[in-house]
Amino acid sequence: MRENDPLLQPYQLKHLTLRNRIMSTSHEPAYSEDGLPTDRYRLYHLEKAKGGIALTMTAGSAIVSPDSPAAFGNLHAYKDEIVPWLKRLTDDCHAEGAAVMIQLTHLGRRTNWNHSDWLPVLAPSPIREPAHRAFPKTAEDWDLERITKEYAAAAQRMQEAGLDGIELEAYGHLMDGFWSPATNQRDDAYGGSLDNRLRFTHEVLAAIRAAVGTDFIVGLRLVADEDWDKGLSREEGVEIAQRLVASGRIDFLNLIRGHIETDAALSKVIPIQGMASAPHLDFAGEVREITKFPVFHAARIADVATARHAIAEGKLDMVGMTRAHLADPHIARKVAEGREEEIRPCVGATYCLDRIYEGHEALCIHNPATGREASLPHVLRRSDGPKRKIVIVGAGPAGLEAARASAERGHEVVVFEAADKPGGQVRLAAQLKRRSELIGIADWRLAQCERLGVTFRFNTWAEREDVLGETPDIVVIATGGLPDTGWLAEGGDLVVTSWDILAGDVKPGERVLLFDDNGGHPGMEAAEFIAQAGSKLELVSPERFFAPEIGGLNHVPYARCFSECDVRVTINTRLIAVRRSGNGLLASLGSDYSDRIVEREVDQVVVEHGTLPLEDLYFELKPLSRNLGELDMAAFVAIQPQCVTRNPDGDFQLFRIGDAVASRNIHAAIYDGLRLCMTF
Ligand SMILES: Cc1cc2nc3c(=O)[nH]c(=O)nc-3n(C[C@H](O)[C@H](O)[C@H](O)COP(=O)(O)O)c2cc1C
Ligand code: SF4
Repeated sequence: MRENDPLLQPYQLKHLTLRNRIMSTSHEPAYSEDGLPTDRYRLYHLEKAKGGIALTMTAGSAIVSPDSPAAFGNLHAYKDEIVPWLKRLTDDCHAEGAAVMIQLTHLGRRTNWNHSDWLPVLAPSPIREPAHRAFPKTAEDWDLERITKEYAAAAQRMQEAGLDGIELEAYGHLMDGFWSPATNQRDDAYGGSLDNRLRFTHEVLAAIRAAVGTDFIVGLRLVADEDWDKGLSREEGVEIAQRLVASGRIDFLNLIRGHIETDAALSKVIPIQGMASAPHLDFAGEVREITKFPVFHAARIADVATARHAIAEGKLDMVGMTRAHLADPHIARKVAEGREEEIRPCVGATYCLDRIYEGHEALCIHNPATGREASLPHVLRRSDGPKRKIVIVGAGPAGLEAARASAERGHEVVVFEAADKPGGQVRLAAQLKRRSELIGIADWRLAQCERLGVTFRFNTWAEREDVLGETPDIVVIATGGLPDTGWLAEGGDLVVTSWDILAGDVKPGERVLLFDDNGGHPGMEAAEFIAQAGSKLELVSPERFFAPEIGGLNHVPYARCFSECDVRVTINTRLIAVRRSGNGLLASLGSDYSDRIVEREVDQVVVEHGTLPLEDLYFELKPLSRNLGELDMAAFVAIQPQCVTRNPDGDFQLFRIGDAVASRNIHAAIYDGLRLCMTF
């Protein structure tokens, strides 16, 4: 059966044989250093190569010109120094059987001018790009001549580095900026007719071909329908694809549908959890049918069944599973080995992508090893040391990961959990239907733990004696925390928490004020829940904008809900006190900016202020432990064994992780669990 798996069939692209149909499309993880793909970058791609991927498209928007300053750590394809780094990356991936290509671009107006060389950003016409707040300069003839040469020089560098090919980015950037009526208002030889609007693209392709010859693989990642009243129509987009194919200068089409100038628009091109799976797959298939040309495509094809369908039904030649590989770089290998059910699922949280727009590196919400391959393995080795008895208290994300990692290391693991199911705060977060996929974080770990023989004691509020009764060598406290309401000057007993709402323990009132002093998902989820229940909601935040811990793509569905449900959003404002007023409540609101106090009459006040650790058990066990609970921080960070002895009479080592230490997020909890327990 596996020999006939459509996903595992090789694909011939020109002279290049791709070993199967699975690829990772170009995405900038922001692991670069000074615009160069150094070791972190290389190891990240190498892991996918080891995991069986056929093609890894490196970079995301590697920039061909210095006047296209990096927006999110983009590689500098205009530098000669990039060649040896890319060569090493490519050689290493080739050694593992994977092909390597790179995406090149000029970002056009989709970047910022206020760093690097402080040059104005360029576009066909001076139309503002909202996402980067750029007011671009109109590109002149000499700009285009220079950039055309820079494209060709960059392509040549990539050829020199031994890459298998390149793709040019043509959605939301300079190249397609000429195609789209929304961004091209020129009346010269580069505006107006489709011939004129394609002029720059043909000039670039001609220059590239002159530089790299006809054998080198050159493709386009292009928009073939901007799905936008003022943008590129589907008819013109498909016509462009056909004309580019007919030019004989390209070897594949990597299809995009939609436009990306706002977060709301981008979320349709790169859908997040709760949005449709594979929304543009049929469109990509139609373009493949029309052009009879190799077609690649990615957009929320997160699971193997959908990917297989895309290939089996002839919709695509190569299926992009990009975030899916951030979650699990070993997809193809697991499919080939008949271990499909062991693939760590991409739950669509899009923590990865949102982080790069906030100036951080891409990290997967539930795979801490991604991007940290130098220190964290994706496959845990069995321990060479003695088998230990490890007791873990709490089966939230931290505890489950601790259990999984400990069991992978070959230890005997017992997990106590007060609830009847695992998941902790993940289970709560997954209560919002739109985010229900998050439960995959718990389910995948539970399945791994079951495979590895972990013992779970659900419905058990573990006391000191329960833990000691197991005669453990190591105890890991992963009990999480409880919502913190103690900070209110008055009325802490009158408010409910976002947890009460999400758990369904408290019904939303008629007039609700929700104060979010966390800035992450819990408060926003509760707000969405309340708004959709039909309550009249005011969301109050002390920040300059609401939920600053949530990135752009995750912001979209909340903002949409708040707009549709007419939620009043009040920023720069703090909840100070809550008092009874008749049958309702009086909320006093102040601000960091003045002494003015205003009051609101409501029926319910909901607060989100993080959690305080559930730490009683930890402190009860602390005096009995050998390390008195001390974590050797340096060893923890360096992922080395914990060897602290403060109490030689202690029988076990004691640690606590996740929110049992301090209120953080899912990634932090899982990272804690992995880096501690993989050293046992
Ligand atoms: C961290 C990150 C950075 C990305 N950067 C780029 C980019 O620079 N250029 C690009 O064409 N696509 C970029 N993408 C989009 C991906 O190539 C892909 O289209 C998208 O993730 C949807 O595919 P998926 O659902 O398989 O993840 C990025 C995606 C992620 C997650
Ligand atoms: S953060 Fe979410 S969307 Fe991104 S790879 Fe991980 S699971 Fe997938």
